[in-house]
Amino acid sequence: QAGVFTYDPGFTSTAACDSTITYIDGDKGELLHRGYPIDQLAGDSHYLEVCYLLLYGNLPSKAELEKFEKTITMHTMIHEQMHGFFRGFRRDAHPMATMVGVVGAMSAFYHDSTDITDPRQREIASHRLIAKMPTIAAMAYKYSIGQPFVYPRNDLDYAANFLHMCFAVPAEEYNVDPILSRAMDRIFTLHADHEQNASTSTVRLASSSGANPFACIAAGIACLWGPAHGGANQACLEMLKEIGSVDRIPEFIARAKDKNDPFRLMGFGHRVYKNFDPRATVMKQSADEVLDLLGVEDNPILQVAKELEKQALSDPYFAEKKLFPNVDFYSGIILEAMGFPTSMFTPIFALSRTVGWVSQWKEQLGDPGMKIGRPRQLYKGEAARDYTPVDER
Ligand code: SDX
Repeated sequence: QAGVFTYDPGFTSTAACDSTITYIDGDKGELLHRGYPIDQLAGDSHYLEVCYLLLYGNLPSKAELEKFEKTITMHTMIHEQMHGFFRGFRRDAHPMATMVGVVGAMSAFYHDSTDITDPRQREIASHRLIAKMPTIAAMAYKYSIGQPFVYPRNDLDYAANFLHMCFAVPAEEYNVDPILSRAMDRIFTLHADHEQNASTSTVRLASSSGANPFACIAAGIACLWGPAHGGANQACLEMLKEIGSVDRIPEFIARAKDKNDPFRLMGFGHRVYKNFDPRATVMKQSADEVLDLLGVEDNPILQVAKELEKQALSDPYFAEKKLFPNVDFYSGIILEAMGFPTSMFTPIFALSRTVGWVSQWKEQLGDPGMKIGRPRQLYKGEAARDYTPVDER
């Protein structure tokens, strides 16, 4: 068809699915959402407009965008009875544990959007998940630091509302800095979707059994938590702090190259990108802007990150293995400068990726030929043999 192209990466035999949502060319370092390059969306669009694009396939008209933004805004509160769920967790529970539990529990409160055979219920579930995820993430943070929950506000945009719910306290006025809010919104956009990554594949597999949308997204959050995936942003900042100064960088690069050392450079390498992750390039620019705005442009961790990137990229090992910084390499530096603890980095990734999970979930459910996912294996165990009673063993 004119204008439609099928990208056959040469491994269609292992391709998990057909999709029209996100296209990645790992060799070129190219990422498109419904055909739009990520750097243009991160620079010129905003997260809720990107959400509309991912969900419905095209950029919205002004009227469509206003209607969509109002719908999301009017669904940001969670059922009041759900507040008790947070108090069932230990104070020091990782916010990702809370998010997995609370999002899964949504299926117990939003019965009118769990029937996946009803397109209208699918639409309602999509909007509820995108609208409520920042509220849940912010409540998980507030609970972990012993501060009262802050309700969402309808006069703030999506990113500003999240920052307000995280950092406002009843004791005083909290005004969201519009430049920080813009940087937050850009981080949401950079994490919105990424083809068939591990957590999205988890959502698709869970959805293929007919599980309700909240259970499927809770499964995606659980998978994203791992340090090889969405947990890398937290692990990367912790690694940069452990390195501490530029003179220790060679020691850690040597460890990353040592096959006998399990240490890997967090925020480096990717299953698909064998060139720069285009999101990392935008994130690095944003890090410079945000830290400059906050007056911490000489942040020692940012200096370590930049020097580590420079030394790694000039090292033959990383060049030969095509290891480049990925989306997680600079994001933690920005989030920490904004005031978030490292434990909130992956929850922010999860709330950003919710639209990607939901869009891919909807796309799969819209496929009349959808069957339950059932990966096979290469069996390498024992051949058939007879049972022997324990007294004869
Ligand atoms: C995300 O899939 C997605 O799209 C994910 C994601 C998304 O948006 O959903 O992009 C988000 O998960 C980004 C990745 C975040 N993870 C990290 O930054 C953790 C550190 N990175 C590594 O753990 C690793 O790079 C992976 C897990 C991301 C990929 O691992 P692979 O599959 O082993 O990578 P590879 O096949 O390209 O590795 C080639 C070689 C291997 O060595 P050999 O077996 O050839 O001897 O490079 C080595 C790897 O051991 N290697 C590294 C390394 N990453 C790979 N060596 C040192 N440091 C690293 N970071």
